[in-house]
Amino acid sequence: MAAVPPSSLPHSAVALIVLTLAFAALVCESKLSVDYYAKSCPRFNDIMQQTITNKQITSSTTAAGTLRLFFHDCFLDGCDGSVLLSSTPFNSAERDAEINLSLPGDAFDVIVRAKTALELECPNTVSCADILAVATRDLLIMLGGPHYTVYLGRKDSRISKSSLAESDLPRPTLPMSRIIDMFAKRGFTIQEMVALSGAHTVGLSHCKEFSFNLKNDTQYNPRFAQALQQACAGYPQNPTLSVFNDIMTPSKFDNLYFQNLPKGLGVLESDHGLYSDPRTIPFVELYAKDQNKFFQDFAIAMQKLSFYGIKTGRGGEIRRRCDAVN
Ligand code: HEM
Repeated sequence: MAAVPPSSLPHSAVALIVLTLAFAALVCESKLSVDYYAKSCPRFNDIMQQTITNKQITSSTTAAGTLRLFFHDCFLDGCDGSVLLSSTPFNSAERDAEINLSLPGDAFDVIVRAKTALELECPNTVSCADILAVATRDLLIMLGGPHYTVYLGRKDSRISKSSLAESDLPRPTLPMSRIIDMFAKRGFTIQEMVALSGAHTVGLSHCKEFSFNLKNDTQYNPRFAQALQQACAGYPQNPTLSVFNDIMTPSKFDNLYFQNLPKGLGVLESDHGLYSDPRTIPFVELYAKDQNKFFQDFAIAMQKLSFYGIKTGRGGEIRRRCDAVN
C-alpha cells in the first residue's frame, strides 16, 4: 500500500493521529502515580524528607549538585537512575564520562543515604530513579524553589554507557542552535529550555568550563571578567577552583540568574548565549521581570523532564543498591 502524505490526509485523520500520540504519551505517564508507594512503603515521603534535610544542612552543595545530577540522568536516555550506576570491568558507566566527573559526590551520597534508609524500611520496593526525582524536588524547595508534583513508579535501567554522554549532554561551548536542538529532540520548546536553564541560579561552575574564554568574550561585564580571571588564576594547576553561577544570590533559587544575564554577569558561554539569540532573549527578559512566571514555567518543565524516557514494568528493575544492577 502506498504511504499517504500527511498533507493529503483529511483534518479529522490528522487530528486522530495527534490524539493517538498524545494518548500514548499519557498512558506511559499514567503508569506513574502520586501515591505509588502509599501501601508498599507508607513512610516513603517522611524518610525522603528526613534524609535530604539532614544532608543539605551538613553539606550545602548537595541541592544544586542533585539538580544537575537529575538533569544529566534524564537527558541521557531518560530518568532511569542510569547515572547512578558505577563502572564495572566490562562497562564504562555514564558517571565516568568526562562531562559527569564534576557531578559532586554529595549528590550521589544523598541518594545512597535515602536508598539505604528505604531498603531498611521496605526492601526491594522503591526505585533509585524515583528517589532521585523526589530528592531533586525536595532539595529544590529547600533552596526556595517552586513545588511540583512528582509522579512515582519509575523503574531503574540496567544500562549505563559513558560513550553516550558526549553526544547527549549539552556543553557550554555549543552554539545556541545546537542546545535548542538537543532540547527539541526530547520534546522541549525553546521557552522550556530557557526556563530549565534558570537552574543556574544556584550552584557552581568549575573554572575550566569558562576561563579559556574570559579575554575574548565581549559579552562579559569587563569588571566581572576581571574578577573571574582573578578567582580562576592558576586553575590548570588547581582544577577544583570554581565560582558561583549566580554571584548575587548563589544559594537561593530565584530569578536573579535572568537579571544577571543582560548585565553581562553570566558565567558560562551558554548562559550568555541565552541573551544573544533572538529566539531566547524574550524569555530571559520575561523571567527577569517576573519571578512567579519563572517559577511556574520551571515547575512545569521539571515535571515534564521527570517523565522523560522513563522505564516502567519490565522495562527496568528495582535495584537493590543504586550503584549496581541486580
Ligand atoms: C542548557 C544547557 C546547559 C548547559 C550547557 C549546562 C552546563 C553546565 C556546566 C558546564 C556547569 C558547571 C559544572 C561544574 O563545573 O561543576 C553546570 C552547572 C549546573 N547546571 Fe547546567 N547546563 C545546562 C542546563 C542545565 C539544566 C537544564 C539544569 C537543571 C534543570 C542544570 C543544572 C545545573 C546546576 C544546578 C548546576 C550547578 C551544579 C553544582 O553546583 O554542582 N543545567 N551546567
